[in-house]
Parts: sequence; structure tokens; C-alpha cells
Amino acid sequence: MAIAPVVHLLLLLLLPLAEVSALEQQKPPPPPQVVRPGCREKCGNITVPYPFGIGDGCYRDDGKGGFQLRCDDSHATPRLTAVGYDIRITNLSIATGEVQAKLKATRYCYDNEGVTVNRSGDGATPLTSSHYLFSATKNRLVALGCPSHGYFVDTAGYYVSGCMSICRPLQYAMPGSCTGVACCQSAIPSAVGYFEPFLLDMQKKDGDPILYTTTTTCRYVFLVETEWLRTRYNNVDKHLNRTDDLTVPIILDWAVRNVGNCSTARLNRTDYACRSVASHCVKSINGAGYQCNCSKGYEGNPYLEDGCRDIDECKRIEKQEEPCYGVCTNTPGSYTCQCPPGTSGIATWKNGCRPKDSFTFALKVVTGVSVGVFLPVFMCFWLYLGIQKRKLIRAKHKFFELNGGVFLQQQMSSYNGTGTCAGGFKIFSKEDLEKATNHFAADRVLGRGGHGIVYKGVLEDKTVVAIKKSKMIEEAPTKEFAMEMFILSQINHKNVVKLLGCCLEVEVPMLVYEYVSNGTLYNYIHGSKGIESGTAFETCLRIAVESAEALAYMHSSASPPILHGDVKTANILLDDKLTAKVSDFGASKLAPTDEAKMATLVQGTCGYLDPEYLMTCRLTEKSDVYSFGVVLLELLTKKKALYFEGPEEDRSLVLCFMMAVQVGQHHELLDSQVRNEMRIETLEVITQLIMRCLNMCGQERPTMKEVAERLEMLRRYQLNPWAQADANMEERQSLLDMEQRNVEYKFTQDCVLDFEGGSTYSFSS
Ligand SMILES: *[C@@H]1O[C@H](CO)[C@@H](O)[C@H](O)[C@H]1NC(C)=O
Ligand SMILES: *[C@@H]1O[C@H](CO)[C@@H](O)[C@H](O)[C@H]1NC(C)=O
Ligand SMILES: *[C@@H]1O[C@H](CO)[C@@H](O)[C@H](O)[C@H]1NC(C)=O
Ligand SMILES: *[C@@H]1O[C@H](CO)[C@@H](O)[C@H](O)[C@H]1NC(C)=O
Ligand SMILES: *[C@@H]1O[C@H](CO)[C@@H](O)[C@H](O)[C@H]1NC(C)=O
Ligand SMILES: *[C@@H]1O[C@H](CO)[C@@H](O)[C@H](O)[C@H]1NC(C)=O
Ligand SMILES: *[C@@H]1O[C@H](CO)[C@@H](O)[C@H](O)[C@H]1NC(C)=O
Repeated sequence: MAIAPVVHLLLLLLLPLAEVSALEQQKPPPPPQVVRPGCREKCGNITVPYPFGIGDGCYRDDGKGGFQLRCDDSHATPRLTAVGYDIRITNLSIATGEVQAKLKATRYCYDNEGVTVNRSGDGATPLTSSHYLFSATKNRLVALGCPSHGYFVDTAGYYVSGCMSICRPLQYAMPGSCTGVACCQSAIPSAVGYFEPFLLDMQKKDGDPILYTTTTTCRYVFLVETEWLRTRYNNVDKHLNRTDDLTVPIILDWAVRNVGNCSTARLNRTDYACRSVASHCVKSINGAGYQCNCSKGYEGNPYLEDGCRDIDECKRIEKQEEPCYGVCTNTPGSYTCQCPPGTSGIATWKNGCRPKDSFTFALKVVTGVSVGVFLPVFMCFWLYLGIQKRKLIRAKHKFFELNGGVFLQQQMSSYNGTGTCAGGFKIFSKEDLEKATNHFAADRVLGRGGHGIVYKGVLEDKTVVAIKKSKMIEEAPTKEFAMEMFILSQINHKNVVKLLGCCLEVEVPMLVYEYVSNGTLYNYIHGSKGIESGTAFETCLRIAVESAEALAYMHSSASPPILHGDVKTANILLDDKLTAKVSDFGASKLAPTDEAKMATLVQGTCGYLDPEYLMTCRLTEKSDVYSFGVVLLELLTKKKALYFEGPEEDRSLVLCFMMAVQVGQHHELLDSQVRNEMRIETLEVITQLIMRCLNMCGQERPTMKEVAERLEMLRRYQLNPWAQADANMEERQSLLDMEQRNVEYKFTQDCVLDFEGGSTYSFSS
């Protein structure tokens, strides 16, 4: 920024030097050539430019006369005449193509009788074989004196043009000069090269109204420059009494007339009159022939080889149409006009050039202000965004760590080394899941439960998933949770809903499960869709077997065992082939383990809760067995675990069933369809199995593995009872054994609750 003034100063210092050197280099140009070398240039004060010339070889000689001039120096003012023609030339111009000459007017003088007594200036002026023609625009035929009729004829003697002047008091004359009273004028046609004037005698006669008594002594007829009529002929009285000779100026149009037009002239380069390179040919405005003119930006004599010279427009810049107020530079045929260094603007305008600095100063101010104002604002905004983003990232990191993300990553990388994926398990980012669920849109909700909301999501690879967003916010889950996730992710059982991944960047981790299409078993049993007749029990049994197998597998697959904690029909999902898939494993493990919290927060669902768990607050495998017993009961009776219609004692399905068993009426509780399809011995066996599962004492309940096996056995028996008779005697026996044993379980004293006492479960949730 500080460089600009320095450069300015240097320029100012250098400028005078540059001017001086420019002056030194510029040689004065030779005076413009107007005549051929060695020829006389002037006659008096009249310049005689080529193609005119005085003396041999100084004029253009092309067979036509007029260019050869003679200068008679014997007079006080030298007289210039065209050789061969009786005309005295007073002015000469090659720019306009005009010659001013002087001609003697024809004069007739009369005595009192009207007889011609003196006459002069008669005779023709023949210019036909010359380069001259009488100018039609600048000449007039004039008859002066009255009464008269003046006219002229062409070479053949034919009348060309004329006018009549009459004698009347001048006040009757029309306005203007020479308008008919004592003087008249008429125009002449163009291309006139021959002039021979006449006066028609008009003698005074009595009674003739045209002829006035007062006549002029002498009357004249002549061709004259129009300008002369306007400026010199201002008072007719001055001329009325005259009797002397009258010489008047005329204008002649000259051109190169040996060739008719430019296109023909250009054919003969040796004869072509326009010699200068910077010249061109112009058609003559009067008659045949052509003239030459210097090109635009040049001036001089186009009829000479080097006649047209470049005009230094800068020297006469004030006279230009567009004057230059800046630095003018002449160029061949033109010029440039620019603002001086350090300024800018329009140089052809007065004060059009403004110092650049003032302009840039304004710009600087504007720029400075805008930068000063906007930069801090922008910076603040940018910083704010940055801080917000960092905050978000930090929060994500915090949650990720709190939720055991680091631990989980370590586990996974130690498992297969990739750190991101183990057995299809993936740690999702928050954005992934937001994208998959369309920002957890309401129309993506699959179900709402006590624990949270389940959304349907579509991952980027088009996998359909169920995403569980927990509500629970009490205690941050930690390493144990991550461990649980890790173990669950390793489970691969066809009857367990697969855990595909989780998202730990949020306050409460979100779980991503495989999507199971056909809804819950709860909906299947209690929904409007009825089970096909004939297969109702079979389907129920199969679902029961599959669910039992899943639970048994989970109980045995890891140590400590993976407990479900909330077995219920709503947690058993069905796919399109009605295959059972147990979901929500380990959900209960998300619950806090300390007793204080436990007291107020009972996990599980009313109707399915293990009464022992309620008392001890200790969740065991047998708790799942109890809940499964309720599920079995629900499957067979098609009644809800708790139903709120009917009398108070009938509200719990379990209690109802137990009481019915005691009085031997339990088959009436069963769904009619199931009852019809069920074999009588199957009813007894399954009743005993349910009773064992629902035993108040956890220890007395069978393991999940045993339940699964028993159910599978029953299923096979139900499917194929005839084969059992002989081929599978053993199985039948074991079924019966079971029946025997259960009689004992039913009455194990220390674990029986007193139902009849009217006590019912009460839950805090
Ligand atoms: C030449 O000089 C005379 C008088 O000296 C003057 O009247 C005349 O106008 C001049 N002609 C030209 C063409 O300058
Ligand atoms: C001579 O002719 C030129 C061009 O027609 C004109 O400008 C100039 O005034 C004339 N000079 C005289 C004395 O008539
Ligand atoms: C004719 O006029 C000229 C000049 O004006 C004069 O010298 C001459 O004497 C005149 N002739 C006659 C017959 O009047
Ligand atoms: C013209 O001549 C007459 C008589 O001859 C005279 O009365 C008159 O004043 C003259 N006019 C001029 C302008 O000289
Ligand atoms: C030029 O003149 C020649 C003959 O003199 C003629 O043939 C030609 O047509 C003319 N050209 C123009 C453009 O007038
Ligand atoms: C060209 O012009 C010159 C000079 O006027 C003449 O001698 C010659 O014959 C002309 N040539 C032609 C082809 O007309
Ligand atoms: C010659 O050119 C100049 C300008 O270049 C123009 O003003 C002038 O009228 C031209 N003359 C003729 C006879 O065309």
C-alpha cells in the first residue's frame, strides 16, 4: 500500500526527462508538399497546388486543358490565368475542387432613342475541352438594368437559361436581391461547360405596360457567384446608373475529367491521379470525372506521391470533435487519448480524469469498514459453531465412554481384530440411526412398552431393523452393560431375536435388533386373527417348544446364565412362518442392582412375575421358568395373564387356573378349539408341567431345558399318537411318570401360598 506514492513520485521525477527526450527525438517534419519538386508554388498570394502548375512538367497533362496556368508578374498583383482559356483565376482549392475566376460581364449601352451605342464583353467562354465546368450550385445568371431579357445558349446555340428584368419603382420589387425589378437572376443547370450570353433588345413603347419610361443606359448580362449577389450586390441603385465595364467572380468546378469515373480511373495506374497511398478517389459532383481526397486522419495533396500527411491531431486537439484532456498520442490516421499515469476516468471529458488514489482511498475506506465490521461477526459466528460442534462431539464421547463403548470396542477387537464388527455386531453412530428412522418419526413406531419405544428402521444397506430406544434414565449403565451387549451379540439362535448392534453415543444406549415381521405372540393370541381350526393346538405347542428352547439355550450358553427377566407373550415375536423369536434378552439386566432402587423399581410384568422374585428381589433362571409357565397357560387358554373384567378373584389367570386344578375343573378354562384338538392324556401332562412351572418355590420348578424337552415330547406325541403305542413306549411311560410326580409337587407344603386366604399380588408398578 505504501508503494503507490513512491511510484508516483518517481513518475513525476521522470516525466520531465521523458518529455525532453521526446522533444529531442522529434525532428520537425518537412513542410507539406503541394507542388511537384522544382515547380513554382505561388502566384502572388495564390498557391498553385498540383495538378495545377505553372510551367512545363509542373501540371497534370492528360490531354484536357485547364491545369496549365500562367502567372503574369507584370501587374502589381500578379495575374494567374489558365492557359488557353480567357479566365483569370483568383482562388484555387484542391480540397473543395473549386476555382474562383473573374469574367467580364457583357454590356449593352443605349442612347435616348434606344439604339445600341456601345457593347463589350461579348463572346463565348468555352470550357468544354477543359477540366472546368460552371458550378451549378454556386453561380447565377444575372441580367442587370432594365428593361431587358438576358439569357445564354449552349454550343449548339440553344437557349439554356434566362430571365427578364423590368423597370418599376423599386418599392414594388419582391424582397431579396435582384428579384426582377431592374435586375433578375436565374439558376443554371449542372455540367455546363459553355457560356455565351445575350440580351434581348426591348425598346420603349408607349402604352406597353411592361416597359417603364425610365430605363437604364447600360444593361449587363453575366454569370456570377451567388455569394456576390448576396454580399456585393446590396444596393441596386448603385448599379443602375453605371455605364462602365463590370468584372464579376464566378465559381468553376474542376475535376480530373479525362476519365469518366473512379472505377475506370483505377484501371490505369500510370494515369490515375490519386497518387498518395493515403488517398482515395471521389466521384465529381458536377459532370463526369473524379477528384482525389486524403484518407481520414490525413491531409495534404493527394495528387502527389507523398502528398497526404498524417494529421497530428494532438497538436490541434482543441479543434477536434472529441477534445482530449488527458495524454494525447498521435497514431497514423488517428490518435489516442488517455488519462495521465496515476489517474483514471474518461480523458475526453473535461475533468474526466481523476487521481486513482482518491478512488482507491474510497474503496479502501469501504473495504476497511466492511472488513472491520463483518470479520469479527463472522469470526464469532464461526467460533460459536465450532464450540457447539465440539460440545456435541464431547457429549457423544462422554456417553460412548460411560456406556462402555471403549470396553466394547476392546472386546470386539480382541475377538476378531477389526474393532468394529464381531459376529455381525456393530456400534452405530447416532446419525446412522437417525437416518434409519427418519429422525425417529412417529410413523416408524412399531410399539411402545414400559421400557421404551421400538422404531422400525432401514439401514443404509437396506436391512430392515427394529431399534429400541429405552426410556430409562436413572443410572448410567456401564461396563456390565457393554459386557452384556457383547455376550448377547454372540448369541446366534434361530429362536432368539438377533441383536445387530447398539448405539452408545447417547445418554441411554439404543439397541438395534433384527426385524421380525409378524408382531408379538400376545397380538397373535389376543388379536382378532383366529388360529386355523385343526392346527390351533399344534401351532401353540410348536411356539411353546421354540420359545422354551430359546430360553433353555440362553440359560445354558453362558456363565453366569443370561436371564430374560421379563418372559411374556409380548416379548415373543413371530416371523412370517409363525416361528417364535424371543426378544428383549437381558433387558432386566439394565436395571440397577442395588437394593434401594430395586425396592421401588420392580422389573417384569404383572401377571408373569415370579412371586419368589418379589420376595427375595433375586432374579434366577427359575423366575424365567415361572413366567414361561404363565405364557404356556396363556397359549392354552387364550386368556390374558391379568384381566380386569369379571369378579375380583378371577382376575389372575394363574390363580384361576390353580383353583380350577384343585377342583378338577381346569379343562373348562382351556380355549375350546385347543380343548377339542387336545388329547385327554396330553391335557393332564401339560397341566402338571404348568403346575410345576408355577410352583411357588423356585427350587421345585423344572429347568428350562426340561420344560423344552417335555414340550417337544408332547408335541411329537400329539402329532403321531399311533406310532407311540408300540414304537415309543418309553416316551409314553415317561409322560405318565411325569404325571405321577406332579401329584407330589402340588402339595409341597413349604412353598404353597394360601390362595384361599384371599391374598393377591400387589405390585408397585
Ligand atoms: C491575395 O491578396 C489580395 C491583396 O493583396 C487580396 O485581395 C486577396 O484576397 C488575396 N487572395 C488570397 C487567395 O488570399
Ligand atoms: C479561396 O477559396 C477557399 C476555398 O474555397 C476559401 O476558403 C477562401 O476564402 C477563398 N479566398 C478568397 C480570397 O476568396
Ligand atoms: C464605349 O465605351 C468605352 C468604355 O466605356 C468608351 O471608351 C468608348 O468610347 C465607347 N464608345 C462609344 C461609341 O460610345
Ligand atoms: C443616376 O442618374 C440620374 C440622372 O442622370 C441621377 O438623377 C441619379 O441621382 C443618379 N443615381 C445615382 C445613384 O447616382
Ligand atoms: C464508369 O465509366 C465507364 C465508361 O466511361 C462505364 O462503362 C462504367 O459503367 C462507369 N462506372 C460507373 C460505376 O459509373
Ligand atoms: C494510361 O495512361 C497513359 C497516360 O495518360 C496513357 O499513355 C496510356 O495509354 C494509358 N493506358 C491505358 C491502358 O489506357
Ligand atoms: C475529403 O475528405 C474530407 C475529410 O476526410 C472531407 O471533409 C471532404 O469533404 C472530402 N472531400 C471531398 C471532395 O470528398
